Amino acid sequence: MIEDKNWLKIENVTKLYGYGLLGLKKFKALDNISLNIDLGKPRIAVIAGETGSGKTTLLRIIMGVVKPDIGKVLYKGYDIHKLKGSASKWYRKEVQPIFQDPYEAFNPLRRIDTYFYDTTRNICGIKNRNEAIYRIDEALRFVGLSLDRISGKYPHEFSGGELQRISIARALLTSPRILLADEPVSMLDATLRVGILNILKDLKEKLNMIIIYVTHDLSTAYYIGDDISIIYRGTLVEHGPISKVYQEPRHPYTNALLNSILEPDPSLREKYPAIKPSSLELKEFLIMGCRYANRCPRAKEICWHTLPPYVDVDGVSVRCWKYLDYKIDYSS
Ligand SMILES: Nc1ncnc2c1ncn2[C@@H]1O[C@H](COP(=O)(O)OP(=O)(O)O)[C@@H](O)[C@H]1O
Ligand SMILES: [Mg+2]
Repeated sequence: MIEDKNWLKIENVTKLYGYGLLGLKKFKALDNISLNIDLGKPRIAVIAGETGSGKTTLLRIIMGVVKPDIGKVLYKGYDIHKLKGSASKWYRKEVQPIFQDPYEAFNPLRRIDTYFYDTTRNICGIKNRNEAIYRIDEALRFVGLSLDRISGKYPHEFSGGELQRISIARALLTSPRILLADEPVSMLDATLRVGILNILKDLKEKLNMIIIYVTHDLSTAYYIGDDISIIYRGTLVEHGPISKVYQEPRHPYTNALLNSILEPDPSLREKYPAIKPSSLELKEFLIMGCRYANRCPRAKEICWHTLPPYVDVDGVSVRCWKYLDYKIDYSS
């Protein structure tokens, strides 16, 4: 049955990973994540959180390359993990990824233009060479390059910024509805970042695309985002329009993240929120209640053992006991 034709729906997605010597014990890298994205509204939906929060796992689940243990992803009503053959090919055209390290996306021994010809032939089904050339040049011009500029060249002949533009152009060949961008500027020099971010904005404004922008960097998120989902150790802690969330963060973790970008001294800014070693990550993933309880200055008994439900606080959905259990004294 076809339903929800205009939505990408992430429904109660939980992903377990093994840990320990034999990987037999499991932790929830994602715990019951739900997100709905209206395909009729061009937008940049940000998924933010520090390293080790489950952002890449969530994107891989949306791409269809990782299966959730519980829950599903519906695209236009279809469960994307059940698509086969031509339907699966169709989904790969509709939803295209770009990655953090553009050098890893391309084989160093292979000419860049061959990727473009392969995509037009095998995924877009364009057999006519002139038509392929036209399509490739058009995609490259959208990102400020051209087919002439890349023809015959290998990945190392481009800068990181150019190569990320090339990745975006290749993704555009299939005319996708959604671009999944996993920390696309985090490995680039600060001076090159804004160029890529402006291209993502153009994709939304000129091509009406939806971009799911994953980042640990709240400054770039604010620059381009329309709405934001903050995740912490596999749980979604806050979700809403980006301006509202930044103006008045509801969850203590969002608050801490935002304070860290507003901190003018860069040495202090680096320290918090820190990228923690995996033993601490694991300890936090295994908390039954709010995963942030370990770091939260306001954590009470209930926070440690029971995950709060979502509460709507003035148009922002937030998951914190602060808004629920009024018997808890948070003044201390
Ligand atoms: N294939 C895997 N097997 C076991 N643990 C994994 C695997 N992939 C990721 N993890 C762990 O899951 C957690 C979330 O990882 P990831 O989704 O990469 O987060 P992020 O992209 O936010 O940094 C991390 O603790 C990471 O070490
Ligand atoms: Mg990641």
